Amino acid sequence: MQADFRDRVDRAVSSVRQQTQRTPAIAIVLGSGLSDVVDDLVPEARDTTIIGYREIDGFTSPSVAGHRGALAVADDVAVMAGRFHFYEGRSMDDVVLPVAMLASLGVRTLIVTNAAGGIDRNYQPGDLVVITDHINLMGTSPLIGPQDTASGARFPDMTDAYDPALRELAGELDPGLKTGVYAAMSGPAYETPAEITMLERLGADLVGMSTVPEVLVARSYGVRVLGVSTVTNLAAGRAGKPLDHREVVEVGASIRGRMVTLLAGLVSRLKV
Ligand code: HPA
Repeated sequence: MQADFRDRVDRAVSSVRQQTQRTPAIAIVLGSGLSDVVDDLVPEARDTTIIGYREIDGFTSPSVAGHRGALAVADDVAVMAGRFHFYEGRSMDDVVLPVAMLASLGVRTLIVTNAAGGIDRNYQPGDLVVITDHINLMGTSPLIGPQDTASGARFPDMTDAYDPALRELAGELDPGLKTGVYAAMSGPAYETPAEITMLERLGADLVGMSTVPEVLVARSYGVRVLGVSTVTNLAAGRAGKPLDHREVVEVGASIRGRMVTLLAGLVSRLKV
């Protein structure tokens, strides 16, 4: 984090506070192809404030197809339709600003979703996988630099970064969920088959280009995390055909109904 990070977070929080005083304790970040899920997760307009990223100080619009760029704030849950990626050339501070803002708004539980390539040979495209742990291969961390004095821990423990109780609850709500370790690469090229072999040997079951920075920051603020990946494709070299971003977005969208049911179930079980 840079020295001005807390100031940026405070300004983003003020932008939201100008539009709503709601303090949801749960937040959801929707990954590739899932932005539309927001429409099924939050109540109709009167009970929800929709804030375009352009209206939030410090945010810019996502530049990736399949990412919408709006924050929906309801009483029980805040939903981010679209996230920022390191591979877009953004700084790590830009990537994690939304999570720091949500924590400052009062969020205590963060559900992160993403699209991922399946390395585990038991996965099929369209599978939903609860993340049990991660391997950070992005080559950097958002926590490097001056510490966020407001609330961030300098050396957050990452032993149970993906909350065991939340993982269990997800499994109860959808017994068909698989589990696995997520490896984060910087992208934006998909991996080479040799890199997939390397990741498999390192113990990774899934590979993607997001999530880990957000989880590091959430844990530094003591926010509990659940991560759910959609296996949008078999990892490079496994399917006998090239990877295609459009396919990633399409498969992400095709599991929409199941993802909505899971996320809505989680919110209703977690809300106080
Ligand atoms: N690799 C990296 N990121 C991804 C993939 C992949 O195969 N699929 C979706 N996001």
